[in-house]
Amino acid sequence: MRIGIVGIGNIGAAILQGLLAAEKWDKIYISDVRKERLSKFESEHRVKICDSNADVAENADVVIIAVKPSDVKNVLTEIKHLIGGKVLISVAAGISTKMLEMYLGDAGGAGGAAVRVIRVMPNIGAVVGAAVSAICRGSHASDEDEAVAKEILSAIGDVYSVDEKHMDAITGLSGSGIAFMATVIDALADGGVYEGVQRDLALKIAAKTAEGAAKMISAGFSPEKIRELTASPGGTTIRGILQMEKGVRAAVMNAVIAAAKRSREIAAVTAVAAEKEAGGYINEQK
Ligand SMILES: NC(=O)c1ccc[n+]([C@@H]2O[C@H](COP(=O)([O-])OP(=O)(O)OC[C@H]3O[C@@H](n4cnc5c(N)ncnc54)[C@H](OP(=O)(O)O)[C@@H]3O)[C@@H](O)[C@H]2O)c1
Repeated sequence: MRIGIVGIGNIGAAILQGLLAAEKWDKIYISDVRKERLSKFESEHRVKICDSNADVAENADVVIIAVKPSDVKNVLTEIKHLIGGKVLISVAAGISTKMLEMYLGDAGGAGGAAVRVIRVMPNIGAVVGAAVSAICRGSHASDEDEAVAKEILSAIGDVYSVDEKHMDAITGLSGSGIAFMATVIDALADGGVYEGVQRDLALKIAAKTAEGAAKMISAGFSPEKIRELTASPGGTTIRGILQMEKGVRAAVMNAVIAAAKRSREIAAVTAVAAEKEAGGYINEQK
């Protein structure tokens, strides 16, 4: 299977690095308007740097679109006539499978061989192979297409199939959530620094502490259990928990809710623009 990636920015490059590390895919075709981002991969014999997005679309069986949400439409307009019957994976926040199919026009299923669309919300943990990706599929993608997408994304971390209606929430929870967790870890380290610990050591200890909590939760310990195991009556932890209850929980919840809201806003703005355009087209035909 030949994979293509359009957009080798933060997430596209991380996916590419994951695919290269997995050593499963023979050839990976890449393009980006910023040529300097491509040249980093010149020495990789499994990577083919393409001059255009059309080259990627022509050569690959599965095309991953990793450009900003506002650039998705341009890219699909450019390649839609080349990807009929192929699998298209989009990682763009807030762009629904319905919208992707609409941008694809005839190739989205209105005629000809439909593009099999898969929408993914990964996170930047991909750079260390520790992403978590949520995946859902459009109206023409099959179980097999979803399995292929999952296999590709497993090169950068864990993958969960979800109902598309939860994609905005998951954008807040994990796509943006990893930055929220980094902020919490940084604050934990700052507490150590305040108490006199060297910053680099404090940050290492804070990160390992977060990793320990995450591993315990993944192993089945509930957050309450971790608190119970740590907070002895009249001890140190319960003093700290009281301070956290004054704002941390609400702040983190609000961060996820705000990011999910923004994802829905991006979706709404994109939908309005697409509708306007379709209206303009209809009016022109009158
Ligand atoms: N970063 C994350 O943590 C993360 C997590 C989950 C999902 N996502 C999604 O992933 C997508 C990419 O995010 P990112 O942070 O990786 O963005 P990014 O770093 O800006 O990467 C996108 C790359 O695509 C290039 N590009 C723009 N228009 C293009 C075109 N027409 N043809 C080819 N290349 C083009 C950009 O060039 P210019 O800079 O010149 O525009 C840039 O090099 C977004 O839709 C985002 O919602 C990102």
